Amino acid sequence: MAKKSNLSPQFSGTTVDIRRSFQSLIALLAAALVVGAVYLTAESGYLVQEDDENVVQRRSTGNESSENTRCDLFSGKWVYDNESYPLYKDYECKFMSDQLACGKFGRKDLDYQHWRWQPHHCDLPRFNATALLERLRNKRLVFVGDSLNRGQWVSMVCLLEKAIPPRLKYMHNNGSSLITFKAKEYNAKIEFYWAPLLVESNSDDPVNHRLPDRIIRAQAIEKHARHWTDANILIFNTFRW
Ligand SMILES: *[C@@H]1O[C@H](CO)[C@@H](O)[C@H](O)[C@H]1NC(C)=O
Ligand SMILES: *[C@@H]1O[C@H](CO)[C@@H](O)[C@H](O)[C@H]1NC(C)=O
Ligand SMILES: *[C@@H]1O[C@H](CO)[C@@H](O)[C@H](O)[C@H]1NC(C)=O
Ligand SMILES: *[C@@H]1O[C@H](CO)[C@@H](O)[C@H](O)[C@H]1NC(C)=O
Repeated sequence: MAKKSNLSPQFSGTTVDIRRSFQSLIALLAAALVVGAVYLTAESGYLVQEDDENVVQRRSTGNESSENTRCDLFSGKWVYDNESYPLYKDYECKFMSDQLACGKFGRKDLDYQHWRWQPHHCDLPRFNATALLERLRNKRLVFVGDSLNRGQWVSMVCLLEKAIPPRLKYMHNNGSSLITFKAKEYNAKIEFYWAPLLVESNSDDPVNHRLPDRIIRAQAIEKHARHWTDANILIFNTFRW
C-alpha cells in the first residue's frame, strides 16, 4: 500500500480552501461517476437509444406517440435517494484511500452521498458491477489526471470490487505513476495514471509535486501517453492546476 498521506498533497494552497475544495470535489466525483458509468454501460455516447431496455428505460409521460425516440442523458436533475444510494461505503472498501474515507474517520453528515442523477425522459438502470465487469472483460480502462481522477478511479474500483471474490482481485502500485487494479477472472484492468497536467510537467512525480511554480511542456505528452496507448477506454481530467 502507498504511504498514508494527510490531505491531498497537491492541495498545497491555503488550508482554509481545503474543506470547500473537498466538498466540491466530492460533488464532482459523484456527478462524473454517474455520467462515466452511463457511458460505460451504454457505450453509445451522448444520446442513448431508448430501444435497448437494458440500457435505459423510457419513462411513461403520457405523450408516447410524439416523444423523441432518444433520451438526452444530460437533461435531468439530482434527486435525493436515501434508499438505494450510496452504492458503496468507504469503510467497506479496502482499496479506498484514507484521504477520501470520510465515513471511516467519523464524518456524520453523509447525506451528500445520496444524490442520484435522474434524466428527465428516461430512467438509468441501477449500477450493476457484474454487468460492467462483463463489459470490461479483456479490457483496460485508464483514468489519467490528478487527484480528482484518482478519486474517480478508486470510487470505480470500490463500485466493482464488491462483486469480485478476494483472491480474484488485486491492486498493484509499483511506485511509478501507474496504479493498477485487476479483476483476474475478467482479465480487466482499471488503472490510474498520475499526469496532473496531462502533458509533461514538473509535477509529474506522483509523490513529490508540491512546487511553488508549475512548468509544463505544452506540446509534450508522449512520455505519459506511451503508458496508455493500448487502453480501451480513457478518462482524462485536470483540475485546478
Ligand atoms: C408532447 O411532445 C411534444 C413533442 O415533443 C411536445 O411539444 C409537447 O409539449 C408534449 N406534450 C406534453 C403534454 O408533454
Ligand atoms: C428518506 O428521506 C425521507 C425524506 O427526507 C425521510 O422521510 C425518510 O425517513 C428517509 N428514509 C430513510 C430510510 O432514511
Ligand atoms: C447484473 O448483471 C448480470 C450480468 O449481466 C445479470 O446476470 C444480473 O441479473 C444483473 N443483476 C441485476 C440485479 O440486475
Ligand atoms: C512500474 O510499472 C511501469 C508501468 O507498467 C513500468 O514501466 C515500470 O518499469 C515498473 N517499475 C518497476 C520498478 O517495476
